[in-house]
Amino acid sequence: MGLYRPFAELQNMTTSESQLISRDDRQTVGEQFVEDARMTCRDVNVFYGEKQAVQNVSIDIGRHEVLAMIGPSGCGKSTFLRCLNRMNDTIDICRVTGEITLDGNNIYDKNIDIVSLRALIGMVFQKPNPFPKSIYDNIAYGPTIHGLTDSNSELDAIVESSLVKAGLWDEVKDRLDQPGTGLSGGQQQRLCIARAIAVEPEVILMDEPCSALDPIATAKVEELIAELRRQYTIVIVTHNMQQAARVSQRTAYFHLGDLIEVGYTDKLFTTPRHQLTEDYITGRFG
Ligand SMILES: Nc1ncnc2c1ncn2[C@@H]1O[C@H](COP(=O)(O)OP(=O)(O)OP(=O)(O)O)[C@@H](O)[C@H]1O
Ligand SMILES: [Mg+2]
Repeated sequence: MGLYRPFAELQNMTTSESQLISRDDRQTVGEQFVEDARMTCRDVNVFYGEKQAVQNVSIDIGRHEVLAMIGPSGCGKSTFLRCLNRMNDTIDICRVTGEITLDGNNIYDKNIDIVSLRALIGMVFQKPNPFPKSIYDNIAYGPTIHGLTDSNSELDAIVESSLVKAGLWDEVKDRLDQPGTGLSGGQQQRLCIARAIAVEPEVILMDEPCSALDPIATAKVEELIAELRRQYTIVIVTHNMQQAARVSQRTAYFHLGDLIEVGYTDKLFTTPRHQLTEDYITGRFG
């Protein structure tokens, strides 16, 4: 992979031992690659019409890890996240180049069935968006259309286990026939997570999943993310650096469409390698 400079020496240095990499250098530094990658992204570029929103991003997403993506507003976090399950296909003017794989398979291959891909790589959005259906049907809908079961008792079991995994079962088990939209915001977000889980995903993408929630509901979703990591790979976009520090193992810092730095979360927040990362985490750049 001739494109990448050897950063091995830098990886063993702390900021105090090394000069911070200058603002002008936009090549990604840090631990962007992992041994046990679930997804790989190489030289990913995203354009909206003529305008480029993401430049040459290469990063791995490891098995059973939570990867946090942070950076100033408009730096391309959501755009890049949407590349990971081809959600950008729904935007007419959007064009993606480069290669993204899940378990070694190119997800942009023309033979890929996009509906199945989006079940395998599920997504949870900023604003909870339950279907205008009952709590039960919110969960049962996906497994039914994906043909995961044709038995009612199996469907009941999937609904229950998805709600249990999303930490919501005890709160809703007596009102499964009531509308999902009648739940509190935090409960609705956990319902959306349960809905993603119900179709047996491998990866769950979350775009600022707690930004519409109060601190207690946020804490519940964060606990849930920690729990879900045992079974799933999770990528979370967040504006809250404390949240990134609490839930993730690695953090990726984006700036104006460039992936500037990726590092083990505790290291990135204490000893960033790049000047731009340091400026952002110390609040000098918003
Ligand atoms: N549908 C779209 N059409 C055209 N340009 C877009 C579209 N969506 C995003 N962009 C542009 O792409 C760039 C990256 O936007 P994106 O939403 O990915 O940023 P972000 O890092 O998620 O920001 P925020 O933190 O505010 O959510 C911005 O310049 C934005 O204006
Ligand atoms: Mg965004």
